[in-house]
Amino acid sequence: MDMFCIEGGVPLNGTVRVGGSKNASLPILAASLAIQGEVIVRQVPQLQDIVTMSQLLQSMGAIVETREDGSISVDPSQVKSSVAPYELVRQMRASVCVLGPLLARFGEARVSLPGGCNIGHRPIDLHLRGLAALGADIRLESGYVVAEASKLRGAEVDLSGPNGPTVTGTCNVMVAAALATGRTVLRSAAQEPEVEDFARFLNAAGANISGAGTSIVEIHGVRALHEVCHSVIPDRIEAATLALAAAITRGDVTIQNAPTTHMTSVLNALSLIGVPHDITQDAIHIRAGSILRPMELTAEPYPGLPTDCQAQFMALLATVLGESQITDAVFPERFMHVAELVRMGARIRVQDNSAIISGVAQLSAAPVMASDLRASAALVLAALAAEGRTEIRRVYHLDRGYHAFEQKLNQLGAKVQRVRDETMAAVPRPHLEFSRDRVPNT
Ligand code: EPU
Repeated sequence: MDMFCIEGGVPLNGTVRVGGSKNASLPILAASLAIQGEVIVRQVPQLQDIVTMSQLLQSMGAIVETREDGSISVDPSQVKSSVAPYELVRQMRASVCVLGPLLARFGEARVSLPGGCNIGHRPIDLHLRGLAALGADIRLESGYVVAEASKLRGAEVDLSGPNGPTVTGTCNVMVAAALATGRTVLRSAAQEPEVEDFARFLNAAGANISGAGTSIVEIHGVRALHEVCHSVIPDRIEAATLALAAAITRGDVTIQNAPTTHMTSVLNALSLIGVPHDITQDAIHIRAGSILRPMELTAEPYPGLPTDCQAQFMALLATVLGESQITDAVFPERFMHVAELVRMGARIRVQDNSAIISGVAQLSAAPVMASDLRASAALVLAALAAEGRTEIRRVYHLDRGYHAFEQKLNQLGAKVQRVRDETMAAVPRPHLEFSRDRVPNT
Protein backbone atom coordinates (compact mmCIF):
# COMPACT_ATOMS: atom_id res chain seq x y z
CA MET A 1 0.00 0.00 0.00
CA ASP A 2 1.02 3.61 -0.50
CA MET A 3 1.24 6.40 2.01
CA PHE A 4 1.74 10.14 1.78
CA CYS A 5 4.56 12.01 3.49
CA ILE A 6 3.63 15.67 3.67
CA GLU A 7 5.91 18.48 4.76
CA GLY A 8 3.46 21.09 6.00
CA GLY A 9 3.50 24.84 6.28
CA VAL A 10 3.69 25.93 2.62
CA PRO A 11 0.94 28.35 1.46
CA LEU A 12 -0.37 26.97 -1.85
CA ASN A 13 0.04 29.22 -4.85
CA GLY A 14 -0.83 28.87 -8.53
CA THR A 15 -3.43 27.39 -10.84
CA VAL A 16 -4.99 23.94 -10.82
CA ARG A 17 -7.64 22.20 -12.93
CA VAL A 18 -10.58 20.11 -11.73
CA GLY A 19 -11.45 16.80 -13.44
CA GLY A 20 -14.75 15.14 -14.26
CA SER A 21 -17.19 14.17 -11.54
CA LYS A 22 -16.84 10.71 -9.99
CA ASN A 23 -20.38 10.70 -8.65
CA ALA A 24 -21.83 11.76 -12.01
CA SER A 25 -19.76 9.17 -13.91
CA LEU A 26 -20.67 6.14 -11.79
CA PRO A 27 -24.48 6.02 -12.29
CA ILE A 28 -24.06 7.02 -15.95
CA LEU A 29 -21.66 4.15 -16.63
CA ALA A 30 -24.04 1.79 -14.78
CA ALA A 31 -26.99 3.03 -16.86
CA SER A 32 -25.19 2.05 -20.07
CA LEU A 33 -26.55 -1.44 -19.29
CA ALA A 34 -30.03 -0.15 -20.12
CA ILE A 35 -29.04 1.26 -23.51
CA GLN A 36 -29.28 -0.40 -26.91
CA GLY A 37 -26.15 0.84 -28.63
CA GLU A 38 -22.71 2.17 -27.82
CA VAL A 39 -22.32 4.61 -24.94
CA ILE A 40 -19.41 7.06 -24.89
CA VAL A 41 -18.82 8.99 -21.70
CA ARG A 42 -16.31 11.83 -21.79
CA GLN A 43 -14.39 13.57 -18.97
CA VAL A 44 -14.51 10.44 -16.80
CA PRO A 45 -11.89 10.78 -14.06
CA GLN A 46 -9.22 8.06 -13.84
CA LEU A 47 -10.12 6.69 -10.44
CA GLN A 48 -10.24 3.35 -8.72
CA ASP A 49 -14.04 3.54 -8.38
CA ILE A 50 -14.31 3.92 -12.17
CA VAL A 51 -12.12 0.82 -12.60
CA THR A 52 -14.40 -1.08 -10.23
CA MET A 53 -17.52 0.01 -12.14
CA SER A 54 -15.85 -1.00 -15.44
CA GLN A 55 -14.99 -4.41 -13.98
CA LEU A 56 -18.58 -4.84 -12.84
CA LEU A 57 -19.93 -4.05 -16.32
CA GLN A 58 -17.35 -6.37 -17.89
CA SER A 59 -18.28 -9.17 -15.48
CA MET A 60 -21.78 -9.02 -16.99
CA GLY A 61 -20.50 -9.20 -20.56
CA ALA A 62 -20.25 -5.51 -21.54
CA ILE A 63 -17.24 -4.43 -23.59
CA VAL A 64 -15.64 -1.49 -21.83
CA GLU A 65 -12.77 0.52 -23.33
CA THR A 66 -10.87 3.32 -21.69
CA ARG A 67 -9.56 5.74 -24.31
CA GLU A 68 -6.54 7.98 -24.14
CA ASP A 69 -8.64 11.15 -24.32
CA GLY A 70 -10.22 10.30 -20.95
CA SER A 71 -13.45 8.91 -22.37
CA ILE A 72 -14.88 5.47 -21.75
CA SER A 73 -16.93 3.53 -24.26
CA VAL A 74 -19.35 0.81 -23.22
CA ASP A 75 -20.89 -1.67 -25.63
CA PRO A 76 -23.62 -3.45 -23.68
CA SER A 77 -24.87 -5.58 -26.59
CA GLN A 78 -23.21 -8.78 -25.32
CA VAL A 79 -24.45 -8.47 -21.73
CA LYS A 80 -25.62 -11.93 -20.65
CA SER A 81 -25.59 -11.75 -16.87
CA SER A 82 -27.75 -9.62 -14.62
CA VAL A 83 -25.78 -10.41 -11.46
CA ALA A 84 -23.69 -7.90 -9.49
CA PRO A 85 -21.54 -10.14 -7.29
CA TYR A 86 -20.65 -9.47 -3.65
CA GLU A 87 -16.92 -9.44 -4.49
CA LEU A 88 -17.35 -6.22 -6.53
CA VAL A 89 -20.28 -4.60 -4.69
CA ARG A 90 -18.49 -4.81 -1.33
CA GLN A 91 -15.61 -2.78 -2.82
CA MET A 92 -17.87 0.04 -3.93
CA ARG A 93 -21.40 0.82 -2.82
CA ALA A 94 -22.17 2.68 -6.04
CA SER A 95 -22.31 -0.78 -7.69
CA VAL A 96 -25.94 -0.72 -6.57
CA CYS A 97 -26.50 1.73 -9.47
CA VAL A 98 -26.77 -1.27 -11.83
CA LEU A 99 -30.00 -2.42 -10.14
CA GLY A 100 -32.41 -0.06 -11.96
CA PRO A 101 -30.71 -0.37 -15.40
CA LEU A 102 -30.63 -4.20 -15.28
CA LEU A 103 -34.26 -4.41 -14.19
CA ALA A 104 -35.35 -1.96 -16.88
CA ARG A 105 -33.49 -3.70 -19.71
CA PHE A 106 -33.71 -7.40 -18.76
CA GLY A 107 -36.65 -7.59 -16.37
CA GLU A 108 -34.44 -9.04 -13.65
CA ALA A 109 -31.45 -8.20 -11.50
CA ARG A 110 -29.50 -9.91 -8.71
CA VAL A 111 -27.42 -7.36 -6.87
CA SER A 112 -25.49 -8.10 -3.70
CA LEU A 113 -26.40 -5.99 -0.69
CA PRO A 114 -23.40 -3.74 -0.07
CA GLY A 115 -22.83 -4.47 3.63
CA GLY A 116 -21.11 -2.24 6.21
CA CYS A 117 -19.74 1.19 5.49
CA ASN A 118 -17.23 3.45 7.24
CA ILE A 119 -19.33 6.60 6.96
CA GLY A 120 -22.39 5.23 8.71
CA HIS A 121 -25.54 3.20 8.22
CA ARG A 122 -26.43 3.14 4.50
CA PRO A 123 -29.55 1.13 3.72
CA ILE A 124 -31.00 0.86 0.18
CA ASP A 125 -34.64 0.58 1.24
CA LEU A 126 -35.61 3.71 -0.73
CA HIS A 127 -34.17 2.28 -3.97
CA LEU A 128 -36.22 -0.88 -3.41
CA ARG A 129 -39.37 1.02 -2.44
CA GLY A 130 -39.14 3.08 -5.63
CA LEU A 131 -38.61 0.08 -7.90
CA ALA A 132 -41.43 -1.82 -6.16
CA ALA A 133 -43.75 1.15 -6.82
CA LEU A 134 -43.01 0.69 -10.54
CA GLY A 135 -44.16 -2.91 -10.26
CA ALA A 136 -40.97 -4.82 -9.49
CA ASP A 137 -41.20 -7.90 -7.34
CA ILE A 138 -38.33 -7.65 -4.86
CA ARG A 139 -36.97 -10.21 -2.39
CA LEU A 140 -33.78 -10.79 -0.46
CA GLU A 141 -31.98 -14.08 -1.08
CA SER A 142 -28.64 -15.08 0.51
CA GLY A 143 -27.43 -11.49 0.82
CA TYR A 144 -28.65 -10.53 -2.65
CA VAL A 145 -31.50 -8.27 -3.75
CA VAL A 146 -33.46 -10.12 -6.39
CA ALA A 147 -35.70 -7.84 -8.45
CA GLU A 148 -38.01 -9.08 -11.19
CA ALA A 149 -40.59 -7.37 -13.38
CA SER A 150 -42.15 -8.67 -16.57
CA LYS A 151 -43.38 -5.10 -17.13
CA LEU A 152 -42.57 -1.87 -15.31
CA ARG A 153 -45.41 0.65 -15.09
CA GLY A 154 -45.23 4.36 -14.37
CA ALA A 155 -46.36 5.42 -10.88
CA GLU A 156 -46.22 8.13 -8.23
CA VAL A 157 -43.04 7.44 -6.25
CA ASP A 158 -42.05 9.14 -2.99
CA LEU A 159 -38.31 8.91 -2.36
CA SER A 160 -38.14 10.77 0.96
CA GLY A 161 -36.09 9.13 3.69
CA PRO A 162 -35.25 9.96 7.31
CA ASN A 163 -32.05 11.80 6.26
CA GLY A 164 -33.41 13.37 3.09
CA PRO A 165 -33.63 12.02 -0.46
CA THR A 166 -31.30 9.43 -1.93
CA VAL A 167 -28.89 10.33 -4.73
CA THR A 168 -28.13 6.93 -6.25
CA GLY A 169 -31.66 5.75 -5.38
CA THR A 170 -33.12 8.59 -7.47
CA CYS A 171 -30.90 7.52 -10.39
CA ASN A 172 -31.96 3.86 -10.06
CA VAL A 173 -35.66 4.67 -10.07
CA MET A 174 -35.28 7.32 -12.81
CA VAL A 175 -33.70 4.92 -15.29
CA ALA A 176 -36.29 2.20 -14.53
CA ALA A 177 -39.11 4.73 -15.02
CA ALA A 178 -37.50 5.93 -18.27
CA LEU A 179 -38.20 2.49 -19.74
CA ALA A 180 -41.50 1.82 -17.93
CA THR A 181 -44.89 2.09 -19.59
CA GLY A 182 -46.61 5.42 -18.91
CA ARG A 183 -45.94 8.38 -16.67
CA THR A 184 -43.94 8.42 -13.43
CA VAL A 185 -43.69 11.27 -10.96
CA LEU A 186 -40.80 11.14 -8.47
CA ARG A 187 -41.43 13.18 -5.33
CA SER A 188 -38.64 14.12 -2.91
CA ALA A 189 -36.12 13.29 -5.62
CA ALA A 190 -32.49 14.14 -4.88
CA GLN A 191 -31.60 17.51 -6.43
CA GLU A 192 -27.83 17.00 -6.67
CA PRO A 193 -26.18 18.22 -9.91
CA GLU A 194 -25.05 14.62 -10.51
CA VAL A 195 -28.71 13.55 -10.67
CA GLU A 196 -29.45 16.34 -13.13
CA ASP A 197 -26.47 15.24 -15.24
CA PHE A 198 -27.79 11.68 -15.13
CA ALA A 199 -31.15 12.82 -16.52
CA ARG A 200 -29.37 14.85 -19.20
CA PHE A 201 -27.50 11.68 -20.21
CA LEU A 202 -30.72 9.61 -20.34
CA ASN A 203 -32.54 12.31 -22.34
CA ALA A 204 -29.67 12.36 -24.86
CA ALA A 205 -30.27 8.60 -25.20
CA GLY A 206 -33.95 9.19 -25.96
CA ALA A 207 -35.58 9.31 -22.52
CA ASN A 208 -38.29 11.84 -21.70
CA ILE A 209 -37.45 13.26 -18.28
CA SER A 210 -38.24 16.75 -17.00
CA GLY A 211 -37.66 18.46 -13.67
CA ALA A 212 -34.38 16.71 -12.80
CA GLY A 213 -32.41 18.91 -10.42
CA THR A 214 -35.62 19.75 -8.54
CA SER A 215 -37.46 17.60 -6.02
CA ILE A 216 -40.24 16.66 -8.47
CA VAL A 217 -39.26 14.77 -11.60
CA GLU A 218 -41.67 13.73 -14.32
CA ILE A 219 -40.81 10.83 -16.60
CA HIS A 220 -42.71 9.55 -19.61
CA GLY A 221 -41.55 6.04 -20.40
CA VAL A 222 -40.09 5.22 -23.82
CA ARG A 223 -39.67 1.81 -25.48
CA ALA A 224 -35.88 1.89 -25.76
CA LEU A 225 -32.81 4.03 -25.18
CA HIS A 226 -30.34 4.45 -28.02
CA GLU A 227 -26.60 5.10 -28.43
CA VAL A 228 -25.32 8.25 -26.84
CA CYS A 229 -22.23 10.37 -26.23
CA HIS A 230 -22.16 12.46 -23.07
CA SER A 231 -19.60 14.61 -21.20
CA VAL A 232 -19.91 14.49 -17.43
CA ILE A 233 -19.89 17.65 -15.33
CA PRO A 234 -16.75 18.73 -13.43
CA ASP A 235 -16.34 17.40 -9.90
CA ARG A 236 -17.71 19.95 -7.41
CA ILE A 237 -16.24 18.03 -4.46
CA GLU A 238 -12.74 17.98 -5.92
CA ALA A 239 -13.07 21.71 -6.63
CA ALA A 240 -14.24 22.36 -3.06
CA THR A 241 -11.40 20.26 -1.62
CA LEU A 242 -8.85 22.27 -3.61
CA ALA A 243 -10.47 25.52 -2.46
CA LEU A 244 -10.22 24.34 1.13
CA ALA A 245 -6.58 23.31 0.58
CA ALA A 246 -5.93 26.89 -0.53
CA ALA A 247 -7.79 28.24 2.51
CA ILE A 248 -6.15 26.02 5.13
CA THR A 249 -2.65 26.97 3.90
CA ARG A 250 -3.76 30.61 3.65
CA GLY A 251 -2.78 30.41 0.00
CA ASP A 252 -3.58 32.10 -3.31
CA VAL A 253 -4.96 29.60 -5.80
CA THR A 254 -7.03 29.68 -8.99
CA ILE A 255 -9.18 26.60 -9.54
CA GLN A 256 -10.09 26.13 -13.19
CA ASN A 257 -12.95 24.07 -14.65
CA ALA A 258 -14.83 24.48 -11.35
CA PRO A 259 -18.61 24.01 -11.57
CA THR A 260 -19.18 27.29 -9.74
CA THR A 261 -22.98 27.23 -10.07
CA HIS A 262 -23.02 23.89 -8.21
CA MET A 263 -20.85 25.26 -5.42
CA THR A 264 -22.95 28.09 -3.97
CA SER A 265 -23.21 26.56 -0.48
CA VAL A 266 -19.47 25.87 -0.34
CA LEU A 267 -18.55 29.36 -1.55
CA ASN A 268 -21.04 30.95 0.88
CA ALA A 269 -19.50 29.00 3.76
CA LEU A 270 -16.02 30.14 2.70
CA SER A 271 -17.22 33.76 2.62
CA LEU A 272 -18.71 33.45 6.11
CA ILE A 273 -15.45 31.99 7.43
CA GLY A 274 -13.66 34.99 5.87
CA VAL A 275 -11.96 33.39 2.87
CA PRO A 276 -12.19 35.93 0.04
CA HIS A 277 -12.66 34.61 -3.47
CA ASP A 278 -13.52 35.83 -6.95
CA ILE A 279 -15.64 33.80 -9.30
CA THR A 280 -15.51 33.95 -13.06
CA GLN A 281 -17.56 31.64 -15.23
CA ASP A 282 -15.68 28.42 -14.47
CA ALA A 283 -12.85 29.50 -12.20
CA ILE A 284 -12.53 30.34 -8.53
CA HIS A 285 -9.69 32.47 -7.27
CA ILE A 286 -9.09 31.95 -3.54
CA ARG A 287 -7.01 34.45 -1.61
CA ALA A 288 -7.03 33.39 2.00
CA GLY A 289 -5.91 35.92 4.59
CA SER A 290 -4.62 34.94 7.99
CA ILE A 291 -7.64 36.02 10.08
CA LEU A 292 -10.54 33.62 9.66
CA ARG A 293 -13.79 33.35 11.63
CA PRO A 294 -15.21 30.29 13.45
CA MET A 295 -18.52 29.08 12.05
CA GLU A 296 -21.51 26.80 12.57
CA LEU A 297 -22.09 24.64 9.50
CA THR A 298 -24.56 21.88 8.68
CA ALA A 299 -24.08 19.37 5.87
CA GLU A 300 -27.40 18.78 4.11
CA PRO A 301 -28.75 17.43 0.84
CA TYR A 302 -28.21 19.70 -2.19
CA PRO A 303 -28.46 22.68 -2.42
CA GLY A 304 -27.11 22.54 1.13
CA LEU A 305 -23.45 22.12 2.07
CA PRO A 306 -22.33 18.68 0.80
CA THR A 307 -21.61 15.97 3.34
CA ASP A 308 -18.70 15.08 1.04
CA CYS A 309 -17.02 18.36 2.09
CA GLN A 310 -17.80 18.09 5.79
CA ALA A 311 -14.46 16.52 6.81
CA GLN A 312 -12.45 19.03 4.75
CA PHE A 313 -14.30 21.99 6.34
CA MET A 314 -13.58 20.46 9.72
CA ALA A 315 -9.84 20.43 8.96
CA LEU A 316 -10.03 24.13 8.02
CA LEU A 317 -12.06 25.13 11.10
CA ALA A 318 -9.60 23.21 13.32
CA THR A 319 -7.12 25.95 12.35
CA VAL A 320 -9.49 28.88 13.03
CA LEU A 321 -9.36 30.30 16.56
CA GLY A 322 -12.67 30.25 18.44
CA GLU A 323 -15.42 27.64 18.64
CA SER A 324 -16.96 26.16 15.48
CA GLN A 325 -19.55 23.45 15.08
CA ILE A 326 -20.26 21.09 12.20
CA THR A 327 -23.40 18.95 12.02
CA ASP A 328 -23.92 16.25 9.41
CA ALA A 329 -27.62 15.80 8.69
CA VAL A 330 -27.00 13.35 5.82
CA PHE A 331 -24.61 10.89 7.46
CA PRO A 332 -24.91 11.67 11.19
CA GLU A 333 -22.05 9.28 12.10
CA ARG A 334 -19.56 10.47 9.49
CA PHE A 335 -16.86 11.49 11.96
CA MET A 336 -14.11 8.89 11.55
CA HIS A 337 -11.66 11.69 10.72
CA VAL A 338 -12.10 13.38 14.11
CA ALA A 339 -9.83 11.01 16.07
CA GLU A 340 -7.04 11.38 13.48
CA LEU A 341 -7.34 15.19 13.36
CA VAL A 342 -7.08 15.17 17.16
CA ARG A 343 -3.80 13.24 16.80
CA MET A 344 -2.57 16.25 14.81
CA GLY A 345 -3.34 18.64 17.64
CA ALA A 346 -6.92 19.58 16.66
CA ARG A 347 -9.36 20.11 19.53
CA ILE A 348 -12.61 18.47 18.45
CA ARG A 349 -15.26 16.50 20.31
CA VAL A 350 -18.24 14.74 18.85
CA GLN A 351 -21.65 15.22 20.42
CA ASP A 352 -24.54 13.36 18.75
CA ASN A 353 -24.40 14.24 15.03
CA SER A 354 -22.23 17.31 15.59
CA ALA A 355 -18.54 18.01 16.07
CA ILE A 356 -17.51 20.91 18.27
CA ILE A 357 -14.20 22.37 17.19
CA SER A 358 -12.02 24.67 19.29
CA GLY A 359 -9.57 26.08 16.78
CA VAL A 360 -5.83 25.99 17.50
CA ALA A 361 -3.12 28.32 16.25
CA GLN A 362 -1.09 25.50 14.75
CA LEU A 363 -1.69 21.84 13.89
CA SER A 364 1.27 19.52 14.31
CA ALA A 365 2.48 16.60 12.23
CA ALA A 366 1.69 13.05 13.32
CA PRO A 367 1.38 9.60 11.79
CA VAL A 368 -2.31 9.18 10.88
CA MET A 369 -4.53 6.67 9.12
CA ALA A 370 -7.18 7.40 6.45
CA SER A 371 -10.51 5.68 7.06
CA ASP A 372 -12.53 6.69 4.00
CA LEU A 373 -12.33 8.90 0.93
CA ARG A 374 -13.28 12.32 2.31
CA ALA A 375 -11.61 11.64 5.68
CA SER A 376 -8.36 11.11 3.75
CA ALA A 377 -8.83 14.43 2.00
CA ALA A 378 -9.31 16.14 5.37
CA LEU A 379 -6.09 14.59 6.68
CA VAL A 380 -4.17 15.75 3.60
CA LEU A 381 -5.49 19.29 4.16
CA ALA A 382 -4.55 19.21 7.84
CA ALA A 383 -1.08 17.92 6.95
CA LEU A 384 -0.57 20.76 4.44
CA ALA A 385 -1.16 23.22 7.28
CA ALA A 386 0.63 21.33 10.06
CA GLU A 387 4.10 22.01 11.33
CA GLY A 388 6.43 19.14 10.45
CA ARG A 389 6.17 15.95 8.39
CA THR A 390 2.89 14.04 8.49
CA GLU A 391 2.62 10.43 7.33
CA ILE A 392 -0.83 9.44 6.09
CA ARG A 393 -1.37 5.70 5.70
CA ARG A 394 -3.99 3.97 3.54
CA VAL A 395 -4.20 6.66 0.88
CA TYR A 396 -5.91 4.11 -1.37
CA HIS A 397 -9.06 5.66 0.08
CA LEU A 398 -8.03 9.00 -1.41
CA ASP A 399 -7.23 7.41 -4.78
CA ARG A 400 -10.86 6.32 -5.05
CA GLY A 401 -12.01 9.90 -5.50
CA TYR A 402 -9.10 12.19 -6.41
CA HIS A 403 -7.03 11.64 -9.54
CA ALA A 404 -3.31 12.48 -9.15
CA PHE A 405 -4.13 14.58 -6.10
CA GLU A 406 -0.55 14.81 -4.87
CA GLN A 407 0.56 16.01 -8.32
CA LYS A 408 -2.08 18.73 -8.34
CA LEU A 409 -1.04 19.88 -4.86
CA ASN A 410 2.67 19.76 -5.68
CA GLN A 411 1.99 21.87 -8.76
CA LEU A 412 0.77 24.50 -6.27
CA GLY A 413 3.98 24.28 -4.24
CA ALA A 414 2.97 21.63 -1.70
CA LYS A 415 5.51 19.02 -0.59
CA VAL A 416 3.65 15.74 -0.87
CA GLN A 417 5.47 12.51 -1.56
CA ARG A 418 3.79 9.21 -2.35
CA VAL A 419 5.88 6.39 -0.95
CA ARG A 420 5.42 2.69 -0.40
CA ASP A 421 4.28 1.91 3.11
CA GLU A 422 6.61 -0.92 4.09
CA THR A 423 4.73 -1.54 7.34
CA MET A 424 1.70 -2.55 5.24
CA ALA A 425 3.71 -4.45 2.61
CA ALA A 426 2.56 -7.85 3.84
CA VAL A 427 -1.09 -7.05 3.01
CA PRO A 428 -2.08 -8.90 -0.22
CA ARG A 429 -2.99 -6.57 -3.08
CA PRO A 430 -5.24 -7.29 -6.03
CA HIS A 431 -4.22 -6.08 -9.51
CA LEU A 432 -5.37 -2.57 -10.44
CA GLU A 433 -5.25 -0.46 -13.55
CA PHE A 434 -5.22 3.14 -12.34
CA SER A 435 -4.11 3.20 -8.74
CA ARG A 436 -2.13 0.93 -6.61
CA ASP A 437 -4.35 -0.44 -3.91
CA ARG A 438 -7.96 -1.13 -3.39
CA VAL A 439 -10.51 -1.65 -0.79
CA PRO A 440 -13.72 -2.02 0.82
CA ASN A 441 -15.59 1.14 1.66
CA THR A 442 -17.98 3.85 0.52
N1 EPU B 1 -30.68 6.41 2.77
C1 EPU B 1 -31.71 5.66 3.27
N2 EPU B 1 -32.26 4.70 2.47
C2 EPU B 1 -31.83 4.49 1.19
C3 EPU B 1 -30.78 5.27 0.68
C4 EPU B 1 -30.22 6.24 1.50
O1 EPU B 1 -32.13 5.84 4.40
O2 EPU B 1 -32.38 3.61 0.51
C5 EPU B 1 -30.08 7.45 3.61
C6 EPU B 1 -28.56 7.25 3.78
O3 EPU B 1 -28.29 6.36 4.84
C7 EPU B 1 -28.10 8.66 4.03
C8 EPU B 1 -29.00 9.49 3.14
O4 EPU B 1 -30.16 8.67 2.91
O5 EPU B 1 -28.33 9.01 5.37
C9 EPU B 1 -28.40 9.89 1.82
O6 EPU B 1 -27.85 8.75 1.18
P1 EPU B 1 -27.78 8.64 -0.41
O7 EPU B 1 -28.53 7.44 -0.85
O8 EPU B 1 -28.12 9.93 -1.03
O9 EPU B 1 -26.24 8.33 -0.67
P2 EPU B 1 -25.66 7.54 -1.88
O10 EPU B 1 -26.50 7.75 -3.07
O11 EPU B 1 -25.35 6.15 -1.47
C10 EPU B 1 -24.18 9.48 -2.82
C11 EPU B 1 -22.72 9.71 -3.08
C12 EPU B 1 -21.99 9.84 -1.76
C13 EPU B 1 -22.58 11.03 -1.00
C14 EPU B 1 -24.09 10.81 -0.81
C15 EPU B 1 -24.78 11.99 -0.16
C16 EPU B 1 -22.39 8.54 -5.16
C17 EPU B 1 -21.80 7.40 -5.90
N3 EPU B 1 -22.19 8.58 -3.84
O12 EPU B 1 -24.26 8.27 -2.08
O13 EPU B 1 -20.63 10.14 -2.09
O14 EPU B 1 -21.97 11.15 0.25
O15 EPU B 1 -24.71 10.59 -2.08
O16 EPU B 1 -24.60 13.14 -0.90
O17 EPU B 1 -23.02 9.40 -5.75
C18 EPU B 1 -18.31 10.24 -1.70
O18 EPU B 1 -18.17 10.61 -2.89
O19 EPU B 1 -17.39 10.32 -0.86
C19 EPU B 1 -19.60 9.70 -1.28
C20 EPU B 1 -19.73 8.94 -0.20
